[in-house]
Amino acid sequence: MPDLPDTMRAIVAVAPGDPDVLELRDVPRPSPGPGQVLIRVAAAGVNPVDAKTRSGAGSARFVGDDGWPWIPGWDLAGTVVEAGFGVARFAEGDRVFGTVAFPYPAGAYAEYAVAHVSQISRSPRSLDDVHTAALAMGGLTAWQALVDAGGLETNQRVLITAAAGGVGHLAVQIAADLGAHVIAVASPDNVDFVRGLGAYEIVDRTQPDWAAGIAPVDLVLDAFGGPAREPAVSTLRPGGTIVTLPAANRPVTPEGVNDPFVFVAPDGLELQLLTGSVERGALKPHVSETLPLADAARAHELVASGGTRGKIVLTID
Ligand SMILES: NC(=O)c1ccc[n+]([C@@H]2O[C@H](COP(=O)([O-])OP(=O)(O)OC[C@H]3O[C@@H](n4cnc5c(N)ncnc54)[C@H](OP(=O)(O)O)[C@@H]3O)[C@@H](O)[C@H]2O)c1
Repeated sequence: MPDLPDTMRAIVAVAPGDPDVLELRDVPRPSPGPGQVLIRVAAAGVNPVDAKTRSGAGSARFVGDDGWPWIPGWDLAGTVVEAGFGVARFAEGDRVFGTVAFPYPAGAYAEYAVAHVSQISRSPRSLDDVHTAALAMGGLTAWQALVDAGGLETNQRVLITAAAGGVGHLAVQIAADLGAHVIAVASPDNVDFVRGLGAYEIVDRTQPDWAAGIAPVDLVLDAFGGPAREPAVSTLRPGGTIVTLPAANRPVTPEGVNDPFVFVAPDGLELQLLTGSVERGALKPHVSETLPLADAARAHELVASGGTRGKIVLTID
């Protein structure tokens, strides 16, 4: 085992608030417990829930009043530097990634973080750490919404809103790889991008009545919610299913529509499935911006603006 420092650099939010509550500080380094590994984090994926939680919404209720100062972040990619008691699956030097501990604090915006072995997977050999960090929460959410909750099957028609976003761009690729007919909803700037991901039809969400004229679909993955939900629901066949991802302000479900709620769960085995898809060339995360750890506040501003194509990733050198 290498000589590890007792402290580490991490982004810390002392209390809920605006992005400027995020500060780079020296804090104690965590140690792995039984069944856990210690990871030297190379890259941390930035998700909308990171910014929502920092502001006191999102998963702040799972952070709890005693959970501040809080180190944000759930998505990480890096290298195992220490295996805890009883760990056989991973060893020092393994490249791993995952969505860790969600919705409880994981502290991915840091030089070191611990993760239970059941929540991580080996990283794809064909991806660097930055792109690997962009895969975890978006990929797990897409898989759990399309397959686990939505029961998507080959040849079914699936409509995906916010198709260019962190979840959406992976969902388009996963659904297309499963043999579904993918209808992507995006703004004009993202048409070529979502077409390149495997979308068969592309709908311009900036047009009024954008949902009119879409032949009935079996499944909707609504990654935007709010104003997108009603037109998205109108495209469903009788007995169809909509999975709406934003948890806040969920509207009433119309009669005859299945409306399962997905709350993404860490899952190392599903990450292995995603890793396999990456290695086959069927899935590729897109990173639109890479920022150093010290710029976490800027990353939160960007992700909260809602205009992200693919993902934003923080690097930790
Ligand atoms: N329930 C869960 O477990 C779970 C898990 C993960 C994420 N989520 C939630 O799901 C949502 C999506 O996450 P994400 O990571 O994909 O977010 P994201 O990366 O921030 O999504 C950005 C995308 O939203 C699209 N967009 C912006 N304004 C829009 C509008 N008015 N109507 C429709 N689309 C618009 C943009 O594409 P265009 O400009 O091309 O439209 C952009 O590419 C977030 O609210 C997140 O918190 C929930």
